[in-house]
Amino acid sequence: EKGGFDWFMRKEIYEQPKAVADTLLGRHDENGRLTLDEVRISEEELRRIDKIIIIACGTASYAGLVAKYAIEHWTRIPCEVELASEFRYRDPIVGPTTLVVAISQSGETADTLMAIRHAREQRARVLAVCNTNGATIPRESDAVIYTHAGPEISVASTKGFLTQIVACYLLGLYLAQVRGTKFGDEIASTMAELAAMPDAIASVLEDMDPVLKLAADFAEERVVLFLGRHVGYPVALEGALKLKELAYIHAEGFAAGELKHGPIALIEDGLPVFVVIPPRGRDMLHDKVLSNLQEVRARGARTVVLAEADDDEVLPYADVLVPLPKVSTLLQPLLATVPLQMFACELATLKGHDVDQPRNLAKSVTVE
Ligand code: F6R
Repeated sequence: EKGGFDWFMRKEIYEQPKAVADTLLGRHDENGRLTLDEVRISEEELRRIDKIIIIACGTASYAGLVAKYAIEHWTRIPCEVELASEFRYRDPIVGPTTLVVAISQSGETADTLMAIRHAREQRARVLAVCNTNGATIPRESDAVIYTHAGPEISVASTKGFLTQIVACYLLGLYLAQVRGTKFGDEIASTMAELAAMPDAIASVLEDMDPVLKLAADFAEERVVLFLGRHVGYPVALEGALKLKELAYIHAEGFAAGELKHGPIALIEDGLPVFVVIPPRGRDMLHDKVLSNLQEVRARGARTVVLAEADDDEVLPYADVLVPLPKVSTLLQPLLATVPLQMFACELATLKGHDVDQPRNLAKSVTVE
């Protein structure tokens, strides 16, 4: 049933090109307009939405953090991301023109369920992004976008995460279409970029040897840091979470720009630091993170750099380079996360851990 793999997790990592392709399937009508039939909220109502709040836990909340960048950029609707377990304890400002997006692979997470119940009591519209047909969260929501990742058995989420990002991007583009903030050809060009992602993810998966070797080199490490900026920041958080839950290593993700406000004090000789470098583009993002990379390297960090394959500028500062295909900034998380998943999976395997059933964890957390 593991299809020749040692763990469901590894199998599910390799299923990501298909999971992403399946999540993108059938999202057009004959005129090339984006259609999301499962979004049973009228266009009229969607035009009135003045705030989006994404609620989720763990990895799903990091998908939400990625989505926030895209949704605000495309729709110009303010979008917050909140941990489900915090949401209803802070008296959130929610009303009939708020769209609450609940992201949950299992659709059964108690914290997320309680949060959407609270949101509905305040008359918010609730849309679930879920991987499990007919689960409680989509049943209690006004609308749902299903991710079509197929069953995720490993406790650690992998294909669930990538498809959550894709589903949220579809939602963002759909809202932009309905509200006229982004027009036909722009939406079509983003959809074309998304359609190319399964192949891009597959090409990342073809070259996992450096990552496997890295796991062997880092097997004795006690602390690992991850840095990213913009959508690379949630990727850093996700890389760190995977390492905590699977390899039981103290790992932290930081927004690269925050380094100088404290965390840089942690850097010492030999400390492993992963850095997600944004694609080179018109903005200054790439250069900013490059300078963060230089700062940690100058203080002795051993750097693992995830960057575009032909990004020569990072080479002098990379102890290990993990090359990524060229994509636009917003889509890079779909690629950059994959080596981090594999790294955690391999490191935990080398340490003799049960990768599919890490200690103290359950696949769906049905208690608050
Ligand atoms: C981490 C992980 C968890 C889940 C979280 C939410 O690998 O799997 O952090 O993402 O418990 O679960 P769902 O998405 O089922 O609500």
